[in-house]
Amino acid sequence: MPRKFNFGAGPATMPESVLLEVQEELLDWNGLGLSVMEISHRSPEFVEIAKQAESDFRELLSISDNFAVLFTHGGATMQNAMVPLNLATPDGMASYVNSGHWAKRSIKEAGRYTNVKIAASSEEADFQYFPEQSSWILDAESAYVHYTPNETIGGLCLRTLESSSVPVVADYSSGILSEPIEIDNFSLIYGGAQKNIGPSGLGFVIVKKELLGNPQPITPNLLNYTLIHEGESMSNTPPTFAWYVAGKVFKWLKSIGGVEAIAEINNRKATKLYDFIDSSDFYKNEIKTENRSIMNVPFLLSNEDLNSLFLEESNKAGLLALKGHRSVGGMRASIYNGLPEEGVDALLNFMESFEQKYSDA
Ligand SMILES: Cc1ncc(COP(=O)(O)O)c(C=O)c1O
Repeated sequence: MPRKFNFGAGPATMPESVLLEVQEELLDWNGLGLSVMEISHRSPEFVEIAKQAESDFRELLSISDNFAVLFTHGGATMQNAMVPLNLATPDGMASYVNSGHWAKRSIKEAGRYTNVKIAASSEEADFQYFPEQSSWILDAESAYVHYTPNETIGGLCLRTLESSSVPVVADYSSGILSEPIEIDNFSLIYGGAQKNIGPSGLGFVIVKKELLGNPQPITPNLLNYTLIHEGESMSNTPPTFAWYVAGKVFKWLKSIGGVEAIAEINNRKATKLYDFIDSSDFYKNEIKTENRSIMNVPFLLSNEDLNSLFLEESNKAGLLALKGHRSVGGMRASIYNGLPEEGVDALLNFMESFEQKYSDA
C-alpha cells in the first residue's frame, strides 16, 4: 500500500528512509541477533547509540559544552513541572508569556511550584499574534521567563529571540530542528520528540550547566535535572527504542545538509501554503503575517458548513489528519521536517480543486 501524507500535529510523519532502516534492522540489530529493543540500556552497544545521538543533536544545533543535553521521559508536559521544580523556588517567582494553548498549560502547572507572573499575553486578541519580546515585562526577581516559540495548535510563532536579562526557557516541542536558533540566547530548551525528532515517549532538555544543582527539596529524583545529568539520562530505564530512532532522524537530517538545509525546505513549504490561502477567498488564516508558524498551518473555510466534506474528501485523497484542534476549529496542516514537499504540493492541488468544486455551495 502506498504511504499517505500525514498532516497530524504529532506523533508526526517520520522520514521514510528512517522507517525503512528501522524495518531492516528490527530483528537483528548490527549482527547481534537481537532487536535493539531487546538489549540492555547499560550495554556498550546501547550506550554507544545514546552517545552518538547526543553528539549528532549537539552538532545539528551547535550546542556548546556550557549546556547539558538530557533525554527524558514524560514528553513536554512533564517539563511543565520539572522546569519550576529545578529552576524556581516556592517563595520566588517565574515569568511566563501567554501565547496560547500550550503556554497556558505550562502556566497552570508552574503555579503549583512557584509564583507565576504573566510577562505578556495575546489572549485579548484570541492569540492571533505573538507578543513581541520587547513587550515582555520582566521582573529582575524572576528565576526565568518561559515562552512557547511555536504554538502548535494556534499556529503562531516567535521566529527569533534576542538575548535577555532574565534566563529564557522555551518549550520548543514543535519548532526544534526546523530552522537554526541561537542556543546561547536560551538558558533551557525542552520539548517532546514526536514532531521533528522521533517517536513519542522521549523528551529532550538542553540546559545551561550553571543552572543545575538547585532543585526544590520536594523534587522527585527522577525529575531532578542534576541527577539526570549525572546519570547520563539513565537514572532508570530510558525509552531505548525511541532514543535509537531519534538517533537515526539526526543522521538523516545531517545527511540532507542539517538545519540550514531543512529550514530552506520548510520555508518553501510554508510559503506555498500561506500564499495560496491568502490568494483565495475560500480559505483564510488569521494569524499576523510575521507570526505565522512554518510548522503548523491552521486554516478556516469561509463556509464552515463544508468542513466535514473537506475532511472526508481529503482523507480519501490520502491527505490525513487535517482536522484543526477543537479549540480553534477548521483545519490544520502540520508540515514538519519529515513531511516531504510533495505532500504540500498534493494538499495544494486538493485545496484548489475542492475550491473549484464547491465555491458556489
Ligand atoms: C508546544 C507543545 N508543548 C507541549 C506539548 C505536549 O507534549 P507531550 O504530549 O509530549 O507532553 C505539545 C504537544 O503537541 C506541544 O505541541
